[in-house]
Amino acid sequence: MAPTSLLLLQMLLALACTPALLWAAEPDTHLHFFLHDVQSGSNPTAVQVIKGPPSSSGGNAIPGLNFGDTTVVDDALTETSSATSAAVGRAQGFYMMSSLSSPVLMVCVNLVLTTGDFNGSTIAVIGSDDVMAKERELSVVGGTGRFRMATGYVLWKTSSMSGPDATVELDVHLTTSSNGTINASAPVSPLDGGGKGAGDGSGSSGKSGAAARPVGLSGWVNACVVGVVLALVGRGW
Ligand SMILES: *[C@@H]1O[C@H](CO)[C@@H](O)[C@H](O)[C@H]1NC(C)=O
Ligand SMILES: *[C@@H]1O[C@H](CO)[C@@H](O)[C@H](O)[C@H]1NC(C)=O
Ligand SMILES: *[C@@H]1O[C@H](CO)[C@@H](O)[C@H](O)[C@H]1NC(C)=O
Repeated sequence: MAPTSLLLLQMLLALACTPALLWAAEPDTHLHFFLHDVQSGSNPTAVQVIKGPPSSSGGNAIPGLNFGDTTVVDDALTETSSATSAAVGRAQGFYMMSSLSSPVLMVCVNLVLTTGDFNGSTIAVIGSDDVMAKERELSVVGGTGRFRMATGYVLWKTSSMSGPDATVELDVHLTTSSNGTINASAPVSPLDGGGKGAGDGSGSSGKSGAAARPVGLSGWVNACVVGVVLALVGRGW
């Protein structure tokens, strides 16, 4: 390969690869709502199911809170900080005191949305909640429906406290690689090794549903890897 064409190829690769990677890192969905954790009264939505043993080391940061305390929640999610504002969904799961030395919860909840386009879709959230911190960051580790294959994070801020009850402001930032749907009829990308021209005679056709995983980013990465290898081989020549 002539040096000039090699240089051109490398420049094209750089241009082709960079925006795809930057774009993939950017969350494409932002949701904002409030969670109401109600332990008091006759209709609590948060119920303690495990009481941890009193600390023998005296490490409890807050009297009455013990390592291992576990609370199951089905907390309301609403549009504004008012509990009577429009319902958005529920936060279903649990949180557990999981630090020996400070009031830090391990939170594990599904955000089950019940309105509009997102009705029936869920977002799986796991993270560490240092209740004394102004803002915490938890992980979006998955989802269903519109949020299938979601990844991202939740900014989690205590908005107000009233006795044991808390209102928490949630900013959910997430990316779904498949825009909520996977088209099982879509042709297999040659980059996945399953399309026409594979020549393996195994009968895998271009319409195989088995290869229906979204091609977006992995396709680009594969293309970049192949391109870089080709460029290096070309330099060797
Ligand atoms: C959400 O979906 C459920 C089940 O499909 C339906 O009964 C309910 O009316 C829907 N709610 C809204 C607000 O669309
Ligand atoms: C997802 O894709 C469908 C079909 O291509 C499109 O109609 C819809 O607007 C998209 N939704 C989002 C949130 O991008
Ligand atoms: C799924 O893929 C097939 C094949 O490319 C296409 O004909 C069809 O319109 C697609 N369906 C949707 C909902 O995008």
